[in-house]
Amino acid sequence: MTPIHVRTATAEDIERLPAIEQSAAARFPSNDLPTHCAQTTPVEELRQGLAAKTLWVAEEGTTAQVIGFMLCRVEGSSLHIAEMDVLPDRAGRGVGSQLLEAAFAAAIRMGLRSVTLTTFEHLAWNAPFYARRGFQPVAHLSDFPHLGVALQAEAAMGLQRRVAMVWHPV
Ligand SMILES: CC(C)(COP(=O)(O)OP(=O)(O)OC[C@H]1O[C@@H](n2cnc3c(N)ncnc32)[C@H](O)[C@@H]1OP(=O)(O)O)[C@@H](O)C(=O)NCCC(=O)NCCS
Repeated sequence: MTPIHVRTATAEDIERLPAIEQSAAARFPSNDLPTHCAQTTPVEELRQGLAAKTLWVAEEGTTAQVIGFMLCRVEGSSLHIAEMDVLPDRAGRGVGSQLLEAAFAAAIRMGLRSVTLTTFEHLAWNAPFYARRGFQPVAHLSDFPHLGVALQAEAAMGLQRRVAMVWHPV
């Protein structure tokens, strides 16, 4: 299998990321992700992640082609995963897991207490996948105000069956 290399993004990577996000979004059933919700992350937010060194890309070792990315930001004492996408024809080969490992390592290095995200509870490559990587459903949203804000914004857009999850270092 082609080796995958995860690294922090460079400015040259930015322009490739919306197309990856768009392709990955096509995996969602239209019931779950209505067309009007399928906008890509604003480039300005990608640039903020670049500046903060909280934007990672996964590239294939042989070609150096970028095939996935993860955008995070620090929210309180958490590293929050705002977006994570892998090209559909490269999915299911451990790329997402390697990106998560980068988030876990960064959170520990930065002295943060958790890694957080919101996701669909019922799609096999969303909540069940994160649960197998050590994430748990958030019991008290009041402990993570940014997650309550994210869930409210997603509900306002018409997204349903969204859940907030958290990972703590052991
Ligand atoms: C979520 C995502 C980034 C994971 O990336 P990935 O490279 O496929 O991740 P991995 O290969 O490490 O693991 C994929 C997991 O999903 C599971 N899975 C279930 N259905 C799958 C499918 N149709 N295709 C691929 N993986 C699937 C795999 O079994 C695997 O879990 P396991 O290793 O515990 O069995 C990728 O699926 C994606 O881009 N999805 C669309 C966008 C998205 O959902 N983003 C995250 C929103 S919170």
